[in-house]
Amino acid sequence: MRCMNLTFIFVFSITLMTINCQAAEPEQVHLATTGIPGEMVVQWGTEEDTALSCSSESIVEYGTENDKLNLSKIGNNNMYLWTTCTHTAILSDLIQNTTYYYRVGGEGEWSGTYSFKTLEESPAKVIIGAIADHGTSNNAQETTNHMENEDMDLVIHAGDISYANGAGSGNGIGDQSVWDEYQNQIEDVASRTPHMYAPGNHEEDAEPYGFDAYESRFFNPGPNSFWYSFDFEFIHFISISAEHDYEPGSSQYSWLLNDLEDANENRENVPWIVIFAHRPMYSSNGDGDGHGSDIEFREAMEILLYDFQVDLAVWGHDHHYERTYPVFEENVYSNKSGSASDPFYKPGATIHIVAGMSGRSIYDGLEDPQPLWSAHREVEYGYTIFEATKTTINYKFIRNSDNQVGDEFWIINSINVQIPNEYPSTNYNQTNQTEETGIISQIKELNYLEIPMTIIIIALTAIFNLNYRKK
Ligand SMILES: [Fe+2]
Repeated sequence: MRCMNLTFIFVFSITLMTINCQAAEPEQVHLATTGIPGEMVVQWGTEEDTALSCSSESIVEYGTENDKLNLSKIGNNNMYLWTTCTHTAILSDLIQNTTYYYRVGGEGEWSGTYSFKTLEESPAKVIIGAIADHGTSNNAQETTNHMENEDMDLVIHAGDISYANGAGSGNGIGDQSVWDEYQNQIEDVASRTPHMYAPGNHEEDAEPYGFDAYESRFFNPGPNSFWYSFDFEFIHFISISAEHDYEPGSSQYSWLLNDLEDANENRENVPWIVIFAHRPMYSSNGDGDGHGSDIEFREAMEILLYDFQVDLAVWGHDHHYERTYPVFEENVYSNKSGSASDPFYKPGATIHIVAGMSGRSIYDGLEDPQPLWSAHREVEYGYTIFEATKTTINYKFIRNSDNQVGDEFWIINSINVQIPNEYPSTNYNQTNQTEETGIISQIKELNYLEIPMTIIIIALTAIFNLNYRKK
């Protein structure tokens, strides 16, 4: 049922008269996270007849049995200059390691029943999907189909989400119905796995909306939709924006500095730091026209990634897959392969991923020769996914074309790490390393803060041995 429009004129101004408003059918159901165990953010859209008012209710009914949704939560809603009303409700006090069933809407219009599973208390591992530059093409749909088969706890999206932008229309006016199409297209994945987003350039370039759709449709834990952070078990995630001022002195830069200081102090509890944003600090897929490595962004903010030893940075914008070695100012900090038998150990600099191969299109302008900091790159559609424990990260790029692992690497952050046995695709075997070669290789990878301490220990040991022999 729809409101009856008497007048609807919308070109930079709106005049509207409505009568007899009723609820609309829920769609575009998706989840997000606050990062707090026991909470889940439920969001959905309703297509209203006006852009000025939302007539549909914002209720989630949920429970642990499919046919007994005996709990409910009333949320809120917001709209921008488009007829989709976005509803948001945060469920709390959820039981850990439990499947919840839920439906959304209100009296008059309810959705079907969806489900999600909460994390167990202190899980041994979490599985994170990471994509960017997605859109609604057949290739984008294929990526979504593959991701449906993954058992993920969270998806991060590094921007250029739906492509409801005006760049292709010739007049700069974006078609906001593409947002609705996109969010319906990913509903099967997003209704059971929380998704968190970073803003891309194509979130902004649809006149007259700007970032309105992005800000309205997706939850963020604050301070705003563009730069925010949250802990997800043992990973501190940070979304930042190269679409806003990021220079030292800007509010974003100051916020990131403070956030990284706090995250670094909490490393014993939350050891990993992962940043995601749209424009890549490192990419060798450049046409010189706004693509390839974003040098200005890198020169402004890379120092923060280095100073606080950010483990991973996930980008988009260039439509291919690429992974760097640990790198700072184009200097490679480790010559490890990153394989299961030769993992990165506290490599001393950030590993950068370009994950712009999710579906919009493919760029094949790879720089030749391949830069020394570039460890692997592929011009293929697909998605990336990583499994994290408190001491290991195992990152993979999966191709759509053959559903095979195109690239894989490991990072460990503890000298005592035991690679779990449940990774059948690898043959990591610590007993193949002698104690000496293992320790030597790990000492080689100690970061710059640890090197002076290592030299002092070696010197003291040598002096002690000398004195002992004299006696
Ligand atoms: Fe982009």
